Amino acid sequence: MHGQTIIGLDVGRSAVKARAFAKGQEFELTFPSLVCHAIMLSDENSIRTAEPETIVVEGRSYFTGDTARLQGGVTSSAGLSHDWTETQAYQALVLSTLKRLARIGVTGLESPYILVGTPAALYGKQRERLEELTRKAAPNADVKALSQPMGAFLSFFLNKKGYPISENMIDEIGRKKSWAVIDVGHFTTDFLLMKEGVHIDRKSESCEGIFLAAEQLGRILSAKGIDASPVACEDALRTKKIRHFGVKSIADEVAEAAEVVVSKIMTKTNDLLAAEAATVDGILLAGGGAPIIYDSLLKQWPHIMLLPEPRMAVAEGFCRYGKGQLLKRAAAITVKEKVVANG
Ligand SMILES: Nc1ncnc2c1ncn2[C@@H]1O[C@H](COP(=O)(O)OP(=O)(O)OP(=O)(O)O)[C@@H](O)[C@H]1O
Ligand SMILES: [Mg+2]
Repeated sequence: MHGQTIIGLDVGRSAVKARAFAKGQEFELTFPSLVCHAIMLSDENSIRTAEPETIVVEGRSYFTGDTARLQGGVTSSAGLSHDWTETQAYQALVLSTLKRLARIGVTGLESPYILVGTPAALYGKQRERLEELTRKAAPNADVKALSQPMGAFLSFFLNKKGYPISENMIDEIGRKKSWAVIDVGHFTTDFLLMKEGVHIDRKSESCEGIFLAAEQLGRILSAKGIDASPVACEDALRTKKIRHFGVKSIADEVAEAAEVVVSKIMTKTNDLLAAEAATVDGILLAGGGAPIIYDSLLKQWPHIMLLPEPRMAVAEGFCRYGKGQLLKRAAAITVKEKVVANG
């Protein structure tokens, strides 16, 4: 028997990452968080390509992802503010995710179990509202919000089936282990501390993310007479190349731009975790920006661990958490049935 379809949904400011589990099969999806009003297209081919990335929110059509970039000319991410999930762009991205998941064969999307994430610092304030907003896009879904770095932690703490991995829980002398998490995102870098199995609230904070480096790169390039859009700068951080009358290598400029955000993250990490860093069993590094900061942090803390798929870690952890919850639910029902059967 197969249960409810589970969707670990990480709607980030640069990209939507989703991990789904349906009928025993795993699915994965990533697309840029770009949204714009749809426009009439004339070319048959373009219409066919745009259709799967076009959705309707409250009677209005929107292009999402690459279609928004190519046909709509969108050059910056959907939301660089903390309350962007209130916008129709957020609704559009959630609906687009569901449409794309259906297209790659995910079933059970009428009433899935969706796990979504808030930035660490806003979890208490935004959790219920985010659940409500996500339910607006998926009215029959069970929706639960967790903090984003919690997702990264769970991708490490739970196995693929959703059960805790015992060696990550308890050490050789029976002591509960402690972990810190740094999730280097586009708009925010999020921190989390799990001390002896307990989530330490006052250590859940955020600071700036990779967008700062992208902005800085824009300034450096502009001083050299190269005009580059925010999306182009973001790509360049990863590829270390830019298109400007041909492809140019800009590794030095990228390294210089990355320094800005590296130093912000280092300062915040020191403020938050200085007292804990030496005593935790490891610092887990997640998020698309993790590879940029890894070397600098490694110099200071040898027990830093780059998660295997850092950008997908949040969605993956959410999906594993969902599996664990459904297993618990199933076990509880079995126990109840036994109690009833035994009178
Ligand atoms: N391999 C890579 N190397 C360098 N940078 C990368 C890589 N992959 C992604 N990035 C960049 O890392 C940043 C963070 O990506 P991520 O997908 O984690 O952010 P997000 O979840 O969309 O943002 P937020 O969590 O702030 O909402 C983005 O700016 C992205 O362009
Ligand atoms: Mg993120």
